[in-house]
Amino acid sequence: MITNTELEYKGNLYPNDIIDFRRDAEKLYFTTSNGVVLEVSILRDSAFRFRYATENIFEPDFSYAISESASIGYNKLEVEETVTEYLIITAKLKILVDKRTLRIQISDLKGAIINEDELGFHWEENYQFGGNTVKMSKITQNAESFYGMGDKATHSNLKGKRVNNWVTDQYAFGKDQDPLYKAIPFYIGLHNNSAYGIFFDNTFRTQFDFAHERRNVTSFWADGGEMNYYFFYGPKIAEVVNSYTDLTGTPELPPMWTLGFHQSKWSYYPENRVLEIAKKFRDLRIPCDGIYLDIDYMEGFRCFTWNKEYFPDPKKMVQDLRNDGFKTIAIIDPGIKIDKDYWVYQEAKDNDYFCKRGDGPAMRGKVWPGECNFPDFTNPEVREWWAGLYKELIAEIGIKGVWNDMNEPAVMEVPTKTFPLDVRHDYDGHPCSHRKAHNVYGTQMARATYEGVKKFSFPKRPFVITRAAYSGAQRFTSTWTGDNVATWEHLWIANVQIQRMCISGMSFVGSDIGGFAEQPSGELFARWIQLGVFHPFCRVHSSGDHGDQEPWSFDDEVTDIVRSYIELRYQLLPYLYTMFYRYTKENVPMIKPLVHFDQEDHQTHFRTDEFIFGEQILVCPVQEPNAQGRRMYIPRGTWYNYWTDEVLLGGMEKWVVARLDKIPLFIKEGAMIPKYPVQQYVGEIEVEELIMEVYYKNGVERSSVYEDGQDGYDYKKGRYSLRNYKLTGRENELIIQQYKGGSYISSYETIKLNFHGLPFTISTIEVDHVQVSLKEVQLKGNSSIVLDKGFSNLHISGF
Ligand code: NOJ
Repeated sequence: MITNTELEYKGNLYPNDIIDFRRDAEKLYFTTSNGVVLEVSILRDSAFRFRYATENIFEPDFSYAISESASIGYNKLEVEETVTEYLIITAKLKILVDKRTLRIQISDLKGAIINEDELGFHWEENYQFGGNTVKMSKITQNAESFYGMGDKATHSNLKGKRVNNWVTDQYAFGKDQDPLYKAIPFYIGLHNNSAYGIFFDNTFRTQFDFAHERRNVTSFWADGGEMNYYFFYGPKIAEVVNSYTDLTGTPELPPMWTLGFHQSKWSYYPENRVLEIAKKFRDLRIPCDGIYLDIDYMEGFRCFTWNKEYFPDPKKMVQDLRNDGFKTIAIIDPGIKIDKDYWVYQEAKDNDYFCKRGDGPAMRGKVWPGECNFPDFTNPEVREWWAGLYKELIAEIGIKGVWNDMNEPAVMEVPTKTFPLDVRHDYDGHPCSHRKAHNVYGTQMARATYEGVKKFSFPKRPFVITRAAYSGAQRFTSTWTGDNVATWEHLWIANVQIQRMCISGMSFVGSDIGGFAEQPSGELFARWIQLGVFHPFCRVHSSGDHGDQEPWSFDDEVTDIVRSYIELRYQLLPYLYTMFYRYTKENVPMIKPLVHFDQEDHQTHFRTDEFIFGEQILVCPVQEPNAQGRRMYIPRGTWYNYWTDEVLLGGMEKWVVARLDKIPLFIKEGAMIPKYPVQQYVGEIEVEELIMEVYYKNGVERSSVYEDGQDGYDYKKGRYSLRNYKLTGRENELIIQQYKGGSYISSYETIKLNFHGLPFTISTIEVDHVQVSLKEVQLKGNSSIVLDKGFSNLHISGF
């Protein structure tokens, strides 16, 4: 036990005895004799916020992370007092507050400890910058595991690691390198089959130590600001992730084409080259929806300008691309070239929109265009101006999406790679230095971009992609993992990062497929595509200085493999879109690490490679050269090998064959997986029949398919279609019930069910309780049935 004197000696200050308790509706205040105030807010029965003030004063309560639509409301809140403690009781949890130390302990109603303070809150005066370094230390529970924290390129279980959050342009980052491009100070703790989450909503540089320095202690601290954290109880990881995602928000549904395939490079230019790439996709019949213009489309890298030599008629080019089904996405960086003849620069200067140094002059830094100034995106007026700048790009030229890059903010030729810390920010009316605003700068840029793209795209839906992000950025933008490298190790990193981002609230994410820096072999590219088509955002991007990275840049075998996987992605579009719907509506991550899928099974706690795509598809990338297959863990339950329909019992490691054209892929028994026919781009064809791959199960499984107009906002007025399915299998029969919600009328009239693993030969079929002749439903062999899309009950039986 560390004594108080020891702590003081180390420069730490700590709360002492509670002398006052006060309740104000859902907020409880505990004040100590040395002026520390703990504010506990009860958001829900299993979600609380803890905030600590020193010297009796809280900062104005403001956060960029929290969503306006976060749910609040609890069923019970009682406070009891004993000689030594206060006890806060909700319908799900108990919080004990120690009267002598202000330390807290959270347990469930049966008394099982979920989370408890070690030293709890303590702080140190920050002599260099003023304010405090605010610290929290917790006891690490027996066999506790830790997950989450955004884009950390390290083992999925963070136990024994120390990480920090300071969004950084980390070109060609390595495994375990930290920090990277995102600051998502949210983690999940799991012990005794019980999970909780902690979100430390503090935008200063934050540090987390997961039993690294001291085996029994997990701690987190920040260089300034308040000790201000949210606590979410599960007991399921899924519930914790859901609560965090609910608090920090989800995006609106993106247009369906954004879930198609995207091709990018630094840079495709001039115009002929862009058109040539697009044509090649169509000639080779490789589906593609998005094509990217990197910085060379601009005039001298000035944002919102065009290089007229390379792109003499951008509007026409974008229209030509659109006629062929391509949507053009253009990059926009935050650095504005200092050039008095450049209107964007002049407008910002005239209106005083640039960030300033501590002593007054505009912040200067070098990026692609040379010396730049940088808009202060933490100023609402600046965001509005910035949004307005997109008018020409979106409304006039027809650009469909905007890619915000370098917004950590990245500055070249300085050792810190970013702004000096004295730079001032408005922070929405809470002026502060860059120490506080750094981590949110990129998110506020993406937010302003989103507002603009949304305004000028209306009535279509906007699409934005960002590199830098802080918690909550997912409300406005998708993201990618930054400048990775074409190595096998980076394939591993991409896999871990995407899973981690998904359980950190930000599902719309992908990696630069094939690697940004250096050149992949055809084999690595093929393996990466096989993984990438199972990531929510699916884009090939490369720096292009080592050769080409299009699907046809390797040999014919690779091209064929790449085509077949992109085709598979397009077939799975209704499945992906349904995943996205569940993410936006129910806060469910689109991809789940195995521990999220089955936390009771301890085998999952240290797995990194396998993940669940949506709810029912198990994926495990091959991450080595020359592999004929790999060992992988099949989680508990019964699974169908997607390629062979072989049925497998999980709960063990298995060798799975996967030659170059195969990725290990398994379908959960009972699943009904919707498919569309292959199209070269979203909307190319009217879907005439929905295909459902039905995987027999002896038992019950539920599936669903969400559809709507694929773009626009009619779905918000009820014009969507949600088909919920209940599959019930028995020895000699299979019943499928369909419940449909929403008023959207799909283009197809029929649904074709393809059966997998039926253990009997079909003899009778009843549709909505009326027997139909086998001919009528076009029984194809023993494996397919075509039904009117409106059916509500299918009953097949056999012998
Ligand atoms: C850095 C980005 O991470 C990369 O994707 C982009 O191609 C270059 N900047 C050039 O814009």
